[in-house]
Amino acid sequence: MVGTILVTGATGTVGSEVVRQLSRDASSYNIKAGVHSVENANKVQQYDRVKGLQIDYDKIEGLESAFKDVDKLFLLTHPSPKTVEHESNLVTEAKKSGIKHIVKQSIRGADLDADVEAMRLHRQTEKLIEESGIPYTFLRPNEFMQGFINFQGTTIKSNNAFYIPAEDAKVSFVDARDIAAVAVKALLEGDKHYNKTYMITGPEALSYHQAADILSKATGKKIDYVNISDEEARGGMKEAGLDDWLINTISDLYTVYRKGYASSVSSAVEEVTGRKATAFVEFAKDYADAFI
Ligand SMILES: NC(=O)c1ccc[n+]([C@@H]2O[C@H](COP(=O)([O-])OP(=O)(O)OC[C@H]3O[C@@H](n4cnc5c(N)ncnc54)[C@H](OP(=O)(O)O)[C@@H]3O)[C@@H](O)[C@H]2O)c1
Repeated sequence: MVGTILVTGATGTVGSEVVRQLSRDASSYNIKAGVHSVENANKVQQYDRVKGLQIDYDKIEGLESAFKDVDKLFLLTHPSPKTVEHESNLVTEAKKSGIKHIVKQSIRGADLDADVEAMRLHRQTEKLIEESGIPYTFLRPNEFMQGFINFQGTTIKSNNAFYIPAEDAKVSFVDARDIAAVAVKALLEGDKHYNKTYMITGPEALSYHQAADILSKATGKKIDYVNISDEEARGGMKEAGLDDWLINTISDLYTVYRKGYASSVSSAVEEVTGRKATAFVEFAKDYADAFI
């Protein structure tokens, strides 16, 4: 009998790739794609075997029908101070409906004593999943390469520059397509990934200067990395409309990066997928148009 996988956060950076890659796999799983804003639904409903359904993490009454006849869950929520509440609701519903495997998007450095609140919240929900008794796979990715598009893309396009308080820190950026590939393998292969935690990075650690050089070559225009102060970065994020919780989280992440804590490289992508993690050079070529 063909099963069903529920992908939450399905229209976001990682979730949309999980849906796309699952829909191309020959396993024939049905895919339920959790869509928050209806206007984003076409990002995933275009694919084979995908049925979009609306999920709002703040409205738990809709969850029961979303989980009906679902076998496996890809659990991803947006960055929020309410992460534990949101994910706890999903885990409770997963338990009630007999879900057999949860693949959870977590974060590199998830720990109850971490310096960054998002890392502490992710570890709290990892623990809830462990306590639920449902087999799990935790994905702990480093900073996404796609952040250069989602967060720095606007100034790269308008000023040929991006502004970050990272000094000369090196980060082993990971391509979100690789995180999705690991998620898909875990969802489809099942028990060999049960109760495992994968720290997911790209194949090398790069400074933001090196990233700027690679983006310059890929786009054919000179792109500069401008190191700014924490205060300047906070001001810029405030102007861009980010809330205070997110501003604090991102600032704390840059502090961690400056200490060099995001620079080590893991082999998880190759171990799980059998192919090398995507290099930043490849990412820059594939997405060059997004920076022009
Ligand atoms: N960014 C990084 O570099 C990085 C690194 C490591 C770990 N992480 C972790 O990765 C996760 C974020 O992944 P992502 O960047 O792929 O996410 P994303 O692109 O921000 O997408 C978030 C998804 O959640 C949906 N969503 C937002 N509010 C919702 C709500 N109230 N109810 C239901 N759905 C809602 C969004 O839909 P709408 O757009 O329609 O609202 C979207 O589909 C977070 O847990 C973060 O801590 C991120």
